[in-house]
Amino acid sequence: MSAPTSTVSAPATTVGGPSLSPIRRMALGAPPGTVSLALGEPGWPLPQVAREALRDLGGTDARLPYGPNSGRPDLVEAVAAFSARSAHPDGSGVSPEQVMVTSGSQAALFALFQAHATRGSDVLVPDPGFVSYVSLAGLCGARAVPYPLGPGGDLDAEALVRTLGTTRHTSVVVLNHPANPTGGMASARGLATVAEACAGAGALLVSDEVYKELWLDAAPVGLHDVAGVEAGVVLGSLSKAFGAPGLRIGWAVGDPEALAPARLVHNAMTTAPAQPSQDAAVALLGAADRVLPGAREHVRRRWATLARVAPGLSATAGAGPRAGFYLWLPLPGRVPAVETEAFALQVRDESLVTTVPGSAFGARGAGFLRVSLGGPLEELEEGLRRLAPWWGA
Ligand SMILES: Cc1ncc(COP(=O)(O)O)c(C=O)c1O
Repeated sequence: MSAPTSTVSAPATTVGGPSLSPIRRMALGAPPGTVSLALGEPGWPLPQVAREALRDLGGTDARLPYGPNSGRPDLVEAVAAFSARSAHPDGSGVSPEQVMVTSGSQAALFALFQAHATRGSDVLVPDPGFVSYVSLAGLCGARAVPYPLGPGGDLDAEALVRTLGTTRHTSVVVLNHPANPTGGMASARGLATVAEACAGAGALLVSDEVYKELWLDAAPVGLHDVAGVEAGVVLGSLSKAFGAPGLRIGWAVGDPEALAPARLVHNAMTTAPAQPSQDAAVALLGAADRVLPGAREHVRRRWATLARVAPGLSATAGAGPRAGFYLWLPLPGRVPAVETEAFALQVRDESLVTTVPGSAFGARGAGFLRVSLGGPLEELEEGLRRLAPWWGA
């Protein structure tokens, strides 16, 4: 008997074969009892205001309608008011038309890429950088062009502008600061330089600032602090500093003309953000002055745990943390960069702790592991204890 032939057509070439994210790949086949220092999400409790909003779901009105495509007006207003706290040099604030509420900032990225990363164009992405930027560009039939970062993963605006000069047609330029996976930052001058270069090249500048509120000593500068709302689209999220990744609420703030086609994509994909999540989002944004300092305390406690439990790892990583919860850890000197993934797997299988091999974030990430300090404190302590001996620490 001949083997049955599939009646399912081949996937679109932009989608390609099934592939797992590096984080999921590290989790797959992990021995029982493995502690994860791989996931990039907060391990502290959902803030009280959000829990109350979810408990009070719908109030006395038992209906749960779709709601407006672009998010509920009260949430759009809340995002505008929140974003205006840091924007904007000329004092004009942020208006609701400049806000797109999305199902996580991931959906904002997807919608913006689909709307602007034209087939055959180039999309400039940080290397090392958040893995989604490359796959999202691929889904559009665009080419991801990596640009190098400066020391400590900071934005090197000149290097970015040089890369921009080598491409034929760049549709989108992505910045991420504070950065995943390096924790790198951007200076006001660097942001202004990139904004000017993107305007000159006719490229949409997307500034992913989802870790911006998780600073330790001083608030980082954002694109809209430096160059007005028209200079580019800034992404924010409830997933990191607001401690609520499962709500799947994020946003994009920028020029209404840049957002308009992305809104169509987002509507086509999701219809509207989930209503219960929007209730909790309004509550969280309304309580930002209490929730965010609390989140920064959670993050400080995690970096202090690293210094206490594994000071050798902290010293290996060099200059102290400035924002976010990622430790960007060079491999022990004896391990060559080409063995980054093999080393991460060996550590996982022999010491039962997962990290993410830096090579997953781009070619320039080889030679590093990304260690997330974001998770629950007891797991973090145990994971660091298992990790440290590999560095003789
Ligand atoms: C740099 C960066 N941008 C965007 C996202 C997406 O976050 P969310 O969709 O939960 O808002 C993440 C998630 O890890 C991230 O690290």
